[in-house]
Amino acid sequence: MRALPPRRGIAYSAPMKSDSPKTFHVKSFGCQMNVYDGERMAEMLGAEGYVAAADGADADLVVLNTCHIREKAAEKVYSDIGRLKRADGSTPTIAVAGCVAQAEGAEIARRAPSVDVVVGPQAYHRLPDLIAKAAKGEKAIDLDMPLESKFGALPKRAGGQRPTAFLTVQEGCDKFCTYCVVPYTRGAEISRPYADLIAEAQALVAGGVREITLLGQNVNAWDGADTKGRAVGLDGLIRDLARIDGLERIRYTTSHPNDMTDGLIAAHGEIPELMPFLHLPVQAGSDRILAAMNRSHSVDSYLKVIERVRAARPDIAISGDFIVGFPGESEADFQATLDIVRATKYAMAYSFKYSRRPGTPAATMDDQVDEAVMNDRLQRLQALLNEQQHAFNAATVGRTTQLLLERKGKLDGQLIGKTPWLQSAHLVAPGLAIGNMVEVRIASAGPNSLGAEPLMEAVA
Ligand code: SAH
Ligand code: SF4
Ligand code: F3S
Repeated sequence: MRALPPRRGIAYSAPMKSDSPKTFHVKSFGCQMNVYDGERMAEMLGAEGYVAAADGADADLVVLNTCHIREKAAEKVYSDIGRLKRADGSTPTIAVAGCVAQAEGAEIARRAPSVDVVVGPQAYHRLPDLIAKAAKGEKAIDLDMPLESKFGALPKRAGGQRPTAFLTVQEGCDKFCTYCVVPYTRGAEISRPYADLIAEAQALVAGGVREITLLGQNVNAWDGADTKGRAVGLDGLIRDLARIDGLERIRYTTSHPNDMTDGLIAAHGEIPELMPFLHLPVQAGSDRILAAMNRSHSVDSYLKVIERVRAARPDIAISGDFIVGFPGESEADFQATLDIVRATKYAMAYSFKYSRRPGTPAATMDDQVDEAVMNDRLQRLQALLNEQQHAFNAATVGRTTQLLLERKGKLDGQLIGKTPWLQSAHLVAPGLAIGNMVEVRIASAGPNSLGAEPLMEAVA
């Protein structure tokens, strides 16, 4: 991992004034935190006088908000940069933001000379200044992880057109799993202040948001002090967010098994607004591999957490992440991963082939696993996970529940919403609109989505 010296002291520019405003397009890759950052960058550019381009290809400014988690993700960025070249050979102003920017730094501008700005995930509040610098013909690179939080420098949120929103509450990671770049690209764990989060959530809800997903690389490690100065954990924050009038659903992701506190587990049985869904990655089912990954939890401790969460909220949907082919993983280790999947019964999951990330401890470990073996294991794992997902979906058929309608479907008049268990469900119902919460009966289930029938007109 290349670490360039921090750069400081870039002056703040005045907002742009122009008769024909410049257009921008932000394209985010990777995790939901990047999606959140992309939205904040878009809001900031809007406040600077830019307008969103109808078509990304025509924009004056393109921000590629990148992800570095696996190899292909970074390669994709370079091909995306190449594709921004217009027919006449010119390019828009190109800013590379996100985790590839942090990891690769100035190398990006060297390898892709059409890149004007490189900005890390903790410095993107300085994007307007960097663009101004680039307009003078200089390469503008800012990989600083400043002590002052970027959040304070961003424009206030106003909600959007959608009924759901992300809210980053915690950033960074101190866990240093041996395969993972996040501690290097996002920096140390920080929790945003309680009051800022309540205010941001209130603004989102005032703008029409009905469901908020709290985000963090280790979201359940969030801690803070409430208005009375009392120490609170994520469960305390959720409890207070749930009091905001009009906020009907709260979710959080991603959690680490070691940070599932008693209070957070209990909250799942106590707070109706907290949706019955938990994304709790285990990565592997062999204690030997978990130790080599530096996961700092065991198979047994993970299963105990799951048992306790299910005791608090019996219908909870459990989701996970898995890596196959970590260095040294034997067939017996992999069988142990299948065993923990069978024991947990996931409602959904993400699974990946191990990707060797330069600069991480695992990259230089012996016994890197052969690609063909990884492919075979991934296929077998995904077959089991797909079977479980389908079974979970099938078990909801006949149930009455509520959908929050989020977007239009492919068919005429079709709308798509989410169940409390984060399943996508589609329905055709004239008179309903995006943003409605609707009472439905689940009528059918496929591997990836459900069919629903409305029981009445929109609840609200
Ligand atoms: N903070 C979260 C998510 C981290 S990134 C957590 O700790 O679970 C999302 C997922 O990407 C991880 O859960 C892991 O399954 C996967 N991942 C991270 N690094 C990887 C690597 N080098 N190769 C393959 N998958 C990886
Ligand atoms: Fe990466 Fe591990 Fe931190 Fe998750 S907990 S972000 S996998 S280092
Ligand atoms: Fe990717 Fe960075 Fe998120 S590496 S997964 S965008 S924290």
